[in-house]
Amino acid sequence: MKNILCIGAGYVGGPTMAMIARKCPDYNVVVVDINEERIAAWQSDELPIYEPGLAELVKSTAGKNLFFSTDVAAEIEKADIIFVSVNTPTKTFGKGAGKAADLQYWEKTARVILANSKSDKIVVEKSTLPVRTADAMERILKTAPDGIKFEVLSNPEFMAEGTAVEDLEDPDRVLIGGHDTESGQKAVQALVDIYRHWVPEEKVVTMNLWSSELSKLAANAFLAQRVSSINSLSAICEATEANVAEVSRAIGMDSRIGSKFLKASVGFGGSCFKKDILNLVYLCETYGLEEVARYWEQVVKINDYQQSRFVANMISSMFNTVADKRIAVLGFAFKADTGDTRESPAISICKLLLDEQANVVVSDPKAIGNAKKDLAEYADKVEYEEDVYAAVKGAHAIAVLTEWPMYETLDYKKIFDLMEKPQFIFDGRNFLDHDMLYDIGFNVYSIGKAPKKHI
Ligand SMILES: NC(=O)c1ccc[n+]([C@@H]2O[C@H](COP(=O)([O-])OP(=O)(O)OC[C@H]3O[C@@H](n4cnc5c(N)ncnc54)[C@H](O)[C@@H]3O)[C@@H](O)[C@H]2O)c1
Repeated sequence: MKNILCIGAGYVGGPTMAMIARKCPDYNVVVVDINEERIAAWQSDELPIYEPGLAELVKSTAGKNLFFSTDVAAEIEKADIIFVSVNTPTKTFGKGAGKAADLQYWEKTARVILANSKSDKIVVEKSTLPVRTADAMERILKTAPDGIKFEVLSNPEFMAEGTAVEDLEDPDRVLIGGHDTESGQKAVQALVDIYRHWVPEEKVVTMNLWSSELSKLAANAFLAQRVSSINSLSAICEATEANVAEVSRAIGMDSRIGSKFLKASVGFGGSCFKKDILNLVYLCETYGLEEVARYWEQVVKINDYQQSRFVANMISSMFNTVADKRIAVLGFAFKADTGDTRESPAISICKLLLDEQANVVVSDPKAIGNAKKDLAEYADKVEYEEDVYAAVKGAHAIAVLTEWPMYETLDYKKIFDLMEKPQFIFDGRNFLDHDMLYDIGFNVYSIGKAPKKHI
């Protein structure tokens, strides 16, 4: 039985290892973290993250061939293959602050692996990293005492939060980057063998290390770029009375473009898109590729613009003031089916509304705990109500910021009656039935479409 270790029990480490344990009963899988609270949560019935199907997945393997531990040193020694899935946030200090990846957790992990290894190991980059990070990892590991050999591979993770279990079960592709040497290719094969337990051969793609590292940044940059592209068009639609849903349908029917990820909204969020694009921007700057850097940077700028534009539209349609008005924010998670709020558009939108002295009440089925942390600086000014009907009571406006399916089936007549008149609803995800809302009496504002107003 081979031993797999994953360092970092976060959104990626936990679910990916649970899937490997489930599909590979011939491997022993251990996930370690320095965060004791997180490990205790993985060992309990209250997992530290919410993902549909995750609780069942973990339950089916925990204690059999999936284990969680805080004893990083001891587990490193036992492992044949070590996945590193620690956080790689944007640097907040020094050179490259606000753009470059903060690699301190990454480098510390390399040193811990080095200090606790007494036998050869394959080290797999699961975290998203700047191109050529494997080079730095290799140089640190090369200082190992004679006889111990490490082979570094890149295996970026493409799962999306909210559909993590589904994506891991049936990935579009699995990328494995390794060196074109005999030992490099042997290590690549060891990782291919794991994924081939359930992923079809044609979906397991092997390539050189640097291509694999860059492909992850590039994929996220392309996805975010599509969101910013359609959002930039939504502003033109609002100015010209074109309808962004119709435009998006028309362009999406072109088979060269495709229809996915063309939905106008308050913008993308999540821990990865912004961080990975800025990382790409910094990489371009480092290599003197200024024009390329500015090109990708604009994707992030449009995303920020879309959020401030949404708030500006709210203010101007509500008679140029939201001060002292109760605004019910429905949805705080960066997307449906997750409790994750990292870089959620709701954060900046709520802050902008609070700065305008609105009385913000936040409702979300899974993310209220995280929302409280995100808005901690406004603690005494924000109200939190899990129950939507309590949140909207006495509200002048509703801003829907997450596309939770439950928001489609609310009793909007009841909501209308609970609110202050005239009732405004701003659909930041363009997914509600706007005709129905208008017929009830709401003044309905969405993104990239003419508003439907009674006044
Ligand atoms: N969240 C996503 O949807 C997603 C998707 C694809 C790729 N990624 C990438 O995967 C990586 C991990 O992301 P995440 O969302 O799981 O992060 P996360 O913050 O949820 O988890 C990272 C974990 O690593 C632990 N850690 C940090 N340093 C450690 C050390 N020295 N030893 C042991 N544990 C340590 C932290 O305590 C934390 O629990 C990032 O590079 C991210 O860009 C994330």
